[in-house]
Amino acid sequence: MRISVVGCGYLGAVHAVGMAELGHEVVGVDVDESKIALLNSGEAPFYEPGLPELLKDALATGRLSFTTDISAVKGAAVHFVAVGTPQRKGSNAADLTYVDAAVDALAPHLSAGDIVVGKSTVPVGTAARLAERVTASAPGAVLAWNPEFLREGLAVQDTLSPDRLVYGVPSGETGVAAASALDKIYAVALAKKTPRIITDYATAELVKVSANAFLATKISFINAMAEVCEATGADVTQLADAIGHDARIGRRFLNAGLGFGGGCLPKDIRAFMARADELGVDQALSFLSDVDDINLRRRTRMVELAREVCGGELAGKRIAVLGLAFKPNSDDVRDSPALDVATQLMREGAVVVATDPEAIETSRRLVPDLTLVPTPEEAAKGADAVLLLTEWQQYRELDPRALGYIVSTKAILDGRNCLAPAEWRSAGWTYRALGRP
Ligand code: UDX
Repeated sequence: MRISVVGCGYLGAVHAVGMAELGHEVVGVDVDESKIALLNSGEAPFYEPGLPELLKDALATGRLSFTTDISAVKGAAVHFVAVGTPQRKGSNAADLTYVDAAVDALAPHLSAGDIVVGKSTVPVGTAARLAERVTASAPGAVLAWNPEFLREGLAVQDTLSPDRLVYGVPSGETGVAAASALDKIYAVALAKKTPRIITDYATAELVKVSANAFLATKISFINAMAEVCEATGADVTQLADAIGHDARIGRRFLNAGLGFGGGCLPKDIRAFMARADELGVDQALSFLSDVDDINLRRRTRMVELAREVCGGELAGKRIAVLGLAFKPNSDDVRDSPALDVATQLMREGAVVVATDPEAIETSRRLVPDLTLVPTPEEAAKGADAVLLLTEWQQYRELDPRALGYIVSTKAILDGRNCLAPAEWRSAGWTYRALGRP
């Protein structure tokens, strides 16, 4: 099928490449000229495992192109909207400026029968509003909502083999037409018996935000248990293993530590609360405020732990920060717990030297005065404490003996509960972690 994808960020770029890989003819559109130039030259504008290879392959087939010219969408039958919905400044609500602008930009180029498919995460009610806008400006065009559940770091796999497909469509013939167009697009996944749920706009929008709210709640639940463990000398990692054996609970997303960050979970739960407030059901989601608070408290606790191992005073202390991305296998530092902790330590007067395998440039853009070095060894040189804040595989595998020769004081704070405490302790380190004795 001929497809356009408006917005070529973490979501849109991977979607465009993935759809071309599946055999469709795809044009990706973005307002950012440098991003488009990079994509056309076969370079991914951000770090995502597997994307560069797939991008080069897809470009070579001639089925994929990128442009800043929105009129290039003409002739495509399906138009995906994959622009960002960041948190609005000074409010919890989502900023829909980019979604509205994308739909308005598409409208003059749509023909009757075209399908506009929203992929961005939006407050419930947005699709119904946009559907009216599409019908008014492009008679005969239809709007569908098809939320995206991809995880950064696994975005290629999640795009090519999603664990479920959700279509929010209008009732009647137009809805049937929209669903059948989406079926053609996702034919490969459907042939593999991927579950598909066809529903109304509101349900489709809510599926996405409630999934993220659930995941955030699961993480904050275990981090709340970590707080209790800290007060009692219990071990939250063993607790998670033990409760995780109950199939009803499950072990996934029960990793206690610095908590969740990134471009989705934090802003999505806040936007969900803001929308619930508008709908008069704020009480139903008031627990999400606790989920957010528990999450942010972990960052403060990490700063307190650092102060503790530094003898009660952070000013002038040299702190090595290993990891800045919001999670491993990503260069994304949006709302990153690691970068937040690094910044808080700097504010307290600590001399922070930070590193990350992929997120040096993205961190520099957000916190220009943070000292950034390429390797953990350079970061650890002369350190009074080493903080592991993003669990990259290479940090999990660090040799405590070798690192012990580099630091000034052998103190390690494991912000992601990803090291073996016994190994570090037997190498002479003070090992501290969140929720662990
Ligand atoms: C999330 C959702 O998983 C995805 O379905 C949705 O489409 C977008 O938002 P992503 O932001 O890529 O994806 O990250 P995810 O893997 O969900 O991790 C989010 C954060 O939670 C990370 O900061 C991670 O470190 C943290 N996390 C995750 C924990 O602290 N503990 C866990 O057990 C799992």
